[in-house]
Amino acid sequence: MKVAVIGSGYVGLCTGACLSEIGHDVICVDNNEEKVRKLIAGIMPIYEPGLDDFIARNMKAKRLTFSTEVAPAVQQSEVIFICVGTPSTASGKADLSYVEAVARTIASNLGGYKLIVEKSTVPVNTAEKIRMTISHYAPEGSEFDVASNPEFLAEGTAMSDAMNPSRIVLGVTSKRAENLLRELYKPLPGPVIVTDTSSSELIKHASNSFLAMKISFVNALANICELAGADVSQVTEGMGLDPRIGPHFLRAGVGYGGSCFPKDVDAFHFIAEELGYNFRLLAEVQDVNREQVKRFIAKIDRALWVIKEKKIAVLGVAFKPDTDDIRNAPSIAVIEHLLLEGAQVRLYDPKALENAKQQFQNQVSYHEDIYDACTDADCTLLLTEWKEVRTMDLQKLKSVVRLPLIIDGRNLFDPKEMKQQGFKYFGIGRRS
Ligand code: NAD
Ligand code: UGA
Repeated sequence: MKVAVIGSGYVGLCTGACLSEIGHDVICVDNNEEKVRKLIAGIMPIYEPGLDDFIARNMKAKRLTFSTEVAPAVQQSEVIFICVGTPSTASGKADLSYVEAVARTIASNLGGYKLIVEKSTVPVNTAEKIRMTISHYAPEGSEFDVASNPEFLAEGTAMSDAMNPSRIVLGVTSKRAENLLRELYKPLPGPVIVTDTSSSELIKHASNSFLAMKISFVNALANICELAGADVSQVTEGMGLDPRIGPHFLRAGVGYGGSCFPKDVDAFHFIAEELGYNFRLLAEVQDVNREQVKRFIAKIDRALWVIKEKKIAVLGVAFKPDTDDIRNAPSIAVIEHLLLEGAQVRLYDPKALENAKQQFQNQVSYHEDIYDACTDADCTLLLTEWKEVRTMDLQKLKSVVRLPLIIDGRNLFDPKEMKQQGFKYFGIGRRS
């Protein structure tokens, strides 16, 4: 099938790579010229494990091309995916202006039947608005359908998630759209669920919000564990064995980050309110998350008393391991606090240093080696559970730091063992 993917960020690229891998003829479009230039030259604009191989293989097989031009991509394709960003506005409402702009461009290039697929995460009833916009701007008598097909991949595991989806949700309003999407995804495993477009849109917001709620629940629990002298990892192990609860997304930490949970929970709260329901639980989920990073910062303040002029090593800037993405990473709030207090901040991250440089410029120092970052550090903060951090040589670390003080926002080590190894070690929701 001939497919156009508009928006070649994390989702657009992974979707385009996956669809070309299963045999479709895919053109990925982006209005960021530098991004497209890089892609055509075989340079990845983002770090996502395996993506480079998928893209190289399918470019070579001539199933995958890149362009900055939406119009010809629409004209030559039968199925058009919208994968542009849907960021938060100050009120928490989703900014749908990128989606709307793409819908208008698609409309003016319709000719023959097209299936327009909304893959960006959007509030309920957005497909209806896309349909209305296309009808306004398309030539009279244009034939098209708008479908919702939310994406559930997670960064760091995007390619295996895309190739082995937990579910394929098809929100459609016609049998023709359903059949086309069934055909498109036929080679992929995983259950297919067919719904109306608004239910499909809600599946996405509800899934992300539910996962965020699990994390906030467990972070609130961690705070009680600290007050009661219990260990949150033991409590969640005991909870997770109940199959109705399950073991996933019960890791306490410095809070969730990334480009999706924070914005999607806000957007879901906002649209619920617009529809006439105050989904208070979602506001609390976000509050607990914001408080969690503040509690982490308070731990640093308590441990060091005065931050000014202290050397602080930050191990991990990315919002999670195996990505270079630092959007809404908890590390950002922590580093900003340290800078405000006058600390000398030394950053280590195996993949996200380039993005960190855009964010912090020359206010911090950047290190490709953990021990280099930690040299003479008064305090070491663990903010991303990178394998390199999890498996670091603790005695070597101890030999380079000024103070063997670790504050761990990801509970990577056993507090007892850390004490035996001579560290002052503070985790989340555990006896120190
Ligand atoms: P992103 O910012 O990485 O990519 C969006 C891309 O769209 C950018 O490259 C931008 O230049 C391009 N773009 C914007 N306007 C355009 C236009 N008019 N024409 C062509 N290109 C245009 O965003 P992302 O992380 O890929 O997320 C995209 C959407 O997918 C969001 O709604 C997000 O919530 C959703 N989503 C993301 C993930 C994820 O893991 N990142 C997972 C599931 C769903
Ligand atoms: C998340 C969802 O997992 C995907 O299904 C969804 O498609 C995606 O959002 C999206 O809509 O963009 P992602 O944000 O890439 O994926 O990463 P997650 O693995 O979900 O982690 C999100 C944040 O939660 C990270 O900061 C992570 O450290 C944190 N987290 C996760 C915890 O603090 N504890 C946990 O137990 C799990």
